[in-house]
Amino acid sequence: MSRTAGSLIGKEIRKNPNLILGLATGSTPIGTYKELIRMHKEENLDFSKVISFNLDEYIGLEGIDQNSYRYFMDKELFNDINIKSENTNVPSGVADDMEKYCELYDTMIDEVGGIDLQVLGIGVNGHIAFNEPADSLSMGSFIVNLTNETISANSRFFDSIDEVPKRAISMGIGNIQKAKKIVLLANGKRKAEIIKKILEDETITTQIPASLLLLHQDVTLIVDEDAYSLVKSEA
Ligand code: GLP
Repeated sequence: MSRTAGSLIGKEIRKNPNLILGLATGSTPIGTYKELIRMHKEENLDFSKVISFNLDEYIGLEGIDQNSYRYFMDKELFNDINIKSENTNVPSGVADDMEKYCELYDTMIDEVGGIDLQVLGIGVNGHIAFNEPADSLSMGSFIVNLTNETISANSRFFDSIDEVPKRAISMGIGNIQKAKKIVLLANGKRKAEIIKKILEDETITTQIPASLLLLHQDVTLIVDEDAYSLVKSEA
């Protein structure tokens, strides 16, 4: 799975060394990032002109906090490839005016011409980035109150559930849909129900934010056997 995703991303970077790359956190893309590091070291995959934008960040966590997504990205990818640190963008969770910062983050993405390739994971409830199931979804970057389900799912990375921030900044569905190409990664039995629902129901609903990806023209879904295990063969 990680090899497939890594080689797809690598191919895009070789085609366009100035690629604007959207990146995700969570446990799912770690293998893909390891593969990108391997490709950089063994196959000279060059990130020197790549610009990255991450999807989200917890509100209140500084980049040096081990649970921040900035820390995660530095550790799992950026420190081991030749991307310029000034070209790596992870939204700040500690800006003075978070609402204004959301607008700024969208402008930063727009100014470089938008995201060429967006890597996504998926939450068990169908969230992408931190677009949680809701009656309506945001176009641009926004501040979100995390659902109890997400807080509990993500608590495995924290010492206790009480330490999980209750709010986050996240790219909106509009930012994600504007990406020219999307790679959605899902692995493990935990994701089997949601993958089945999206592929078999073929229903678009804001209650399953990832279902909106069915409207996008260029999405590659990369799953392992466990995540795909409940999908009927004809879906
Ligand atoms: C977090 C992130 C998402 C990620 C999701 C799934 O909530 N904001 O971007 O897709 O977790 O995480 P995991 O890959 O660990 O299952």
